[in-house]
Amino acid sequence: MTAAIAVRQLHKHFGPLHALRGVDLEIRPGEFFGLLGPNGAGKSTLINILAGLVRPDAGSAAVLGHDVQRDPVAARRALGVVPQELVFDPFFGVRDFLMIQAGYYGVARKHRAWIDELLRALGLADKADANMRSLSGGMKRRVLIAQALVHKPQVLVLDEPTAGVDVELRQTLWAFAQRLHGEGMTIVLTTHYLEEAEAMCERIAIMSHGTVVALDDKRSLLGRHPWYQVHLRLASEPAELPPEVAASLASREHGWLVLRLQRGGDELSRVLAALHRAGLAVVEISTQEQTLEQVFLELTAGHHLAAAAGD
Ligand SMILES: Nc1ncnc2c1ncn2[C@@H]1O[C@H](COP(=O)(O)OP(=O)(O)OP(=O)(O)O)[C@@H](O)[C@H]1O
Ligand SMILES: [Mg+2]
Repeated sequence: MTAAIAVRQLHKHFGPLHALRGVDLEIRPGEFFGLLGPNGAGKSTLINILAGLVRPDAGSAAVLGHDVQRDPVAARRALGVVPQELVFDPFFGVRDFLMIQAGYYGVARKHRAWIDELLRALGLADKADANMRSLSGGMKRRVLIAQALVHKPQVLVLDEPTAGVDVELRQTLWAFAQRLHGEGMTIVLTTHYLEEAEAMCERIAIMSHGTVVALDDKRSLLGRHPWYQVHLRLASEPAELPPEVAASLASREHGWLVLRLQRGGDELSRVLAALHRAGLAVVEISTQEQTLEQVFLELTAGHHLAAAAGD
């Protein structure tokens, strides 16, 4: 089966900066895929290479088997990209802008009904004739999403589509993305809202410093991490904690002790015994599974870099 996106040993320098250091990535057709990583990790650089906007120094990238450098027209036809930056020509009305975009792909006439559908689905129907200049930031974002979809690409890449947009647009966008995904479109999502990635994405890659440091099913990514959190509330605020407890303490939150413990070990019983010996009564206890955010922070903080990169 041809990969929706296949990236091999991709390198990119910006002057002395090595922004991509040998990225390997394969995204399957029909996947809802999350591309995560801290600011500057190289996500947008990778996406811009896929979109043909940035030329790599070495390595290859292909969309549905079409190499972005050797076969750019076919690659671009297969791909829709919603860029992170809001850039467009301000001199057109919304519908005209979309028709011109569709014209680039030679699909303007055929897809007129689809453009109307996009305008409706993205809540832009009453802005169809408004000038692009007059739109709010969130409305412009919607137009960029419509623009990426005018030619009905098989692969859609969303580079932080929900940064700075209101709750209503986020929900509209997620419902729409789910619909497209249900119709078979491959969707690649970059976001800093980890709960969004956790809810939407099936597999997730985490980038850090220009490489992919983890790539796995969301479930396995969450499951393979041996840590979990235990929240304990004590009857009274102790002046000092026993060393066994202090050693596992992650934070104190509103009268709760938050402990970070190794799954499957005997740390919890040692902590409880130490509290008991110190005469500190536990009045409430709750445990919390690792969230994507915690996994993400651990991976990008470098704790598990070596192990994860070997996957
Ligand atoms: N055109 C450019 N010229 C110089 N440096 C660049 C250029 N584009 C990106 N960079 C640098 O390359 C690195 C990766 O940037 P990139 O935009 O790919 O990161 P990102 O993962 O998308 O981050 P963010 O989450 O902030 O969007 C950064 O250090 C950035 O400053
Ligand atoms: Mg970016």
